[in-house]
Amino acid sequence: MKGGYDHFMQKEIHEQPESLLQTMRGRVQFQRPAVGNPYLTPRVKLGGLVEHGATVRRCRRIMLVACGTSFHACLAARKTLEEMCEVPVMLELASDFLDRRCPIFRDDTCVFLSQSGETADTLRSLEYAKAHGALCLGITNTVGSAISRMTHCGVHLNAGYEIGVASTKAYTSQILAVTMMALQLAEDSISKRDRRDSIIDELGQLPGKVRSTLMLDGAMKELAEELRNAHSLLFFGRGYNYATALEAALKAGYWGLHGACGAGLRPRCSLPTIKEVALIHSEGILAGEMKHGPLALVDEHLPIVVIATRDGMYKKMESVIQQLLARNAQLYIVCNENDEGMKQYESRGCKLIQASGKSLS
Ligand code: UD1
Ligand code: M6R
Repeated sequence: MKGGYDHFMQKEIHEQPESLLQTMRGRVQFQRPAVGNPYLTPRVKLGGLVEHGATVRRCRRIMLVACGTSFHACLAARKTLEEMCEVPVMLELASDFLDRRCPIFRDDTCVFLSQSGETADTLRSLEYAKAHGALCLGITNTVGSAISRMTHCGVHLNAGYEIGVASTKAYTSQILAVTMMALQLAEDSISKRDRRDSIIDELGQLPGKVRSTLMLDGAMKELAEELRNAHSLLFFGRGYNYATALEAALKAGYWGLHGACGAGLRPRCSLPTIKEVALIHSEGILAGEMKHGPLALVDEHLPIVVIATRDGMYKKMESVIQQLLARNAQLYIVCNENDEGMKQYESRGCKLIQASGKSLS
């Protein structure tokens, strides 16, 4: 059952190239248009959304509702959804959504993300939004689950069973599913065509990039040895990688879709997780907030992971690195493979963790 892996979580981490392919299978057409054949354009077709696509496009706002890792997936995919649909996208932690009795309108679209499709707070939020007349979509990995049955329509991740309690492959498939949804909703927009086609091209390369990133697994053991006695860890990210920082802090197994790194940190146990399994205190911090509090914590004893991939946030993350170094921070920098700009920091005592592939900007 575990196919040679030590535990299910490790197996599921390594299944990601395949689970991502499965999420796209039969739904993404990658071909570039053949000359004279306008029908072979790159496009996404999620069968579950065809009927309700027009309603979503006309809605007042899209609300993404979830818990835990599924919430982090919402955060990671929000920018693409906003960019493609040009509709405000709100994020809601299901428990808080319910506690506040968040105002919901008939022209809202609420999207409920859940690997299991059974999480109580997410399910209660769905009942609440449905009772207030919103269009309710599900994005779940479990066919026949309560959320899959109760939503008006939705998307199954098709990532395969996730048995490990720590969610891994479902996270990357959730980000992918919301991205695919965004691409489908924008399919009639001429102004978005080039951007849409380039994202679809990148999606075609995604399983391969994840596969090569997973090859860092062995190299991470050394790093884990270094971190095994840390009392606390901080993760700084910004843009797409704010979600990566939060998810890395929750579980620093393999980080995110958007150009982030795969790191099998193994500090105090044989499982590659930090807060959730290794029980080390860790926090994910939006790098833009660094000056408004977290900087006061920084000294040479606190290991900090900075995610500085080649995307629109690169320059800002460089400035974060410089400010942290001015406080003698012990830095681990997640950056793109062969990033010459980041090499200079090695001579200042930083460790580089280099992920393969180009990042979305
Ligand atoms: C569906 C079939 C798939 C088949 C394909 C071929 C199922 C489960 N999927 O996949 O086996 O190969 O057609 O055309 O039979 N839904 C919700 N809420 C959710 C998730 C899904 O209401 O949270 C609904 C969708 O709106 C849709 C149905 O469930 O009506 C199936 O969803 P999905 O499996 O994502 O659809 P397809 O990819 O088209
Ligand atoms: O099944 P769901 O996605 O609804 O579960 C929500 C959270 O409980 C879940 O993502 C949790 O945070 C993960 N197991 C953490 O790895």
